Amino acid sequence: MSLPTPAPYDRLTIRAAGAHDSAVLCPYGCHVLGWYGADGRDRFMVSRNADFIPGKPIRGGIPVCFPQFGGKGPLPPHGIARLNPWAVTASAPDQLTLTLADNDATRAVWPVPFRIAMTVAVAPQTLHLRCQVDNPGAAPFSFTFAWHTYFAVGDIALTTVHGLAGTTFHDSLVQGPGAVAVETRESIAIAEEVDRIYANAPDRMSIADNGRRRTFVVAKQNLPDAVLWNPWIAKSRRMADFWPEEFRGMVCLETGAIMAPVTLPPGQTWQAATSFTVQDHG
Ligand code: BG6
Repeated sequence: MSLPTPAPYDRLTIRAAGAHDSAVLCPYGCHVLGWYGADGRDRFMVSRNADFIPGKPIRGGIPVCFPQFGGKGPLPPHGIARLNPWAVTASAPDQLTLTLADNDATRAVWPVPFRIAMTVAVAPQTLHLRCQVDNPGAAPFSFTFAWHTYFAVGDIALTTVHGLAGTTFHDSLVQGPGAVAVETRESIAIAEEVDRIYANAPDRMSIADNGRRRTFVVAKQNLPDAVLWNPWIAKSRRMADFWPEEFRGMVCLETGAIMAPVTLPPGQTWQAATSFTVQDHG
């Protein structure tokens, strides 16, 4: 049976068996656009100014950063996975697998044979992400990777991030030796722009979204690093695809392999996973 070929911005919906939880993604970037429970409230934030235009990334949800995290490299910022339509390669009511393999468009930017497959599965209160990268070529290649998840929160002033105490971070907003420090806070409040890569972060972290009386638990596998990002006021105003007040209702807690690139020999496979569980406190 051949699978349907959706258009790049078609909304593909998956639903958890026996529960109200659902998630929505689109083939362009294998981009998760929404995750909802019985109350219908967004668990992820997508900007009201987001672009749905080929060649531009979608602001919010879960951009897939591959094969380059960030902008310090030869590729477009956060790589090419979020700038290309993926194909649906497996489908079930509660999960979808989408795949991107090298093609004329990717080779024009990154001349490397590769295949990346991502499975998104929804279960009660939980969203599971799995990723597999294959090297079908004759030479090794290296990459960095992240799920750049935009969590929706009721009020950033009432939001705290937990689980990173004792972890060394690289502050992208600081130049020079002062950019590297150790996180001392058990409970991280956000009251200004933050853009930090936490190296070898614990595999379990959480966000207390006290404005909406819920907690997001983030659990990662084979992804050493985490990124904490909120653009705050000035940077929000500089981003054309972001409504300036939206920084109050989001925080990115990203999971990735960033600090040490992964090198994949020919014929080899790399796998990683992240799951998000929401605990509603009534
Ligand atoms: C974060 C980076 O992961 O992504 C930030 O740490 C960056 O530096 C942010 O500003 C958003 O990136 P982009 O390319 O989606 O605007």
